[in-house]
Order: sequence, then C-alpha cells, then structure tokens
Amino acid sequence: LPIVILISGRGSNMLAIAERAANGELPVEVRAVISDKADAAGLATAAAMNIPTRSLSAKEFADRASYDRALAALVQSFEPELIVLAGFMRILSPGFIAAFADRILNIHPSLLPLYRGLHTHRRALEAGDILHGCSVHFVTEELDGGPLVIQSQVKVLPGDSESSLSARVQQQEHRIYSQAIDWFARRRLQLREQQAWLDGRPL
Ligand code: GRF
Repeated sequence: LPIVILISGRGSNMLAIAERAANGELPVEVRAVISDKADAAGLATAAAMNIPTRSLSAKEFADRASYDRALAALVQSFEPELIVLAGFMRILSPGFIAAFADRILNIHPSLLPLYRGLHTHRRALEAGDILHGCSVHFVTEELDGGPLVIQSQVKVLPGDSESSLSARVQQQEHRIYSQAIDWFARRRLQLREQQAWLDGRPL
C-alpha cells in the first residue's frame, strides 16, 4: 500500500513504520515523508533510508486554506492510499481532510478522549492518573476526535517525569501505529459512517 507520512519533528514513529516497511514486516511503501518544518530531524532520518523527502513551510502562504491546498497537492503527487500523521503539529483544514476522506490516520499520546491537544504527559501526571497511554484514530474535522482504532495503556510509575513517561508511551506508539497501518493495508480496517470498522465489525 502506498503511503505518505507527515511529520514536524523527530520522526520516531515515522522511523518505526519505515523500518518495518523496509524489512517486510509491514505491507506498505513509504512514497514520501513530508514536513512543515525544513529542519525536522525526521527528514534526515528518512533521507538516510532513501525515502523521498519534502518540506513545505506555512510561512510562504497567506492563510491556512492556501497552505493546505498546496500540501494536499504535494501529498497527492505521490498518489498515496493512506496518509499517516506522525507528530505533524498542524491542524488540517476541512478541505485537506475532505481531499483524503477516510484515509488519514493520526497517533495521539493519550488515552483519548482524555487530553486532546498538547502536553498530554504533563496533564496526565498533574491529574495524578495511574494509567496513561496512546491512541491511533482516523482523522476527521474534530481535533484529536476522530473514531478510535487502537489504544495502548501504560502504567504511570511513582517518580515518573514527563520524559520518562513519554518514553514508555512512545514504545507503545510505535507498536500500535504499525498494527493499525497493517490492518489498513490488508483492507481489514476502514472508516465508514464516522465509525472505524475492523474485519466488518465496528470498533
Ligand atoms: C508523538 O508523541 C505523537 O503521539 C505525537 O507527536 C509525537 C511525535 O513523535 N502526535 P515522533 O516525531 O514520532 O518521535
């Protein structure tokens, strides 16, 4: 399955997916890694794996709609069947989402619907949660609100800091994102009527 991965930063999820694709564990072809930040570390990581990379800065565009139109055209030029958001730190406009309806996945570092938005690890620690985790969901117009595909729980340990907790959550991110993409690539997973379905059953 041809995919395009969108990133803004380190790209550890992108790397986990690209490595599994390269060693045949995941039936996808990473056609391109695209970033809104030219200096995203993940772009160099992808280039080192001979994956085509592009960056498109929002600075050159007057507004969100025109940036998103250019981004959609760039993504579409690689003809992906799935768009994978992996730490892409921009909110996508309805026009972009409509252009790739039912085939955009995102990973979020919380047990959604808890902690949409930023600083999820800090917020879980401040709330005194004993369980935290991560979620893969289909992207709809609602920020971090699309139908859930898979989640993984991580215990919060005494003495956890934002960084120790996020490191354990990230290990789970890499695992569940690959699982969700595998299901999608094998046509087992789909978004229908605002609901995620796996093997013909609602999730
Ligand atoms: C991850 O924690 C992901 O859940 C969030 O952004 C972070 C990206 O990390 N959306 P990386 O760039 O994949 O290392």
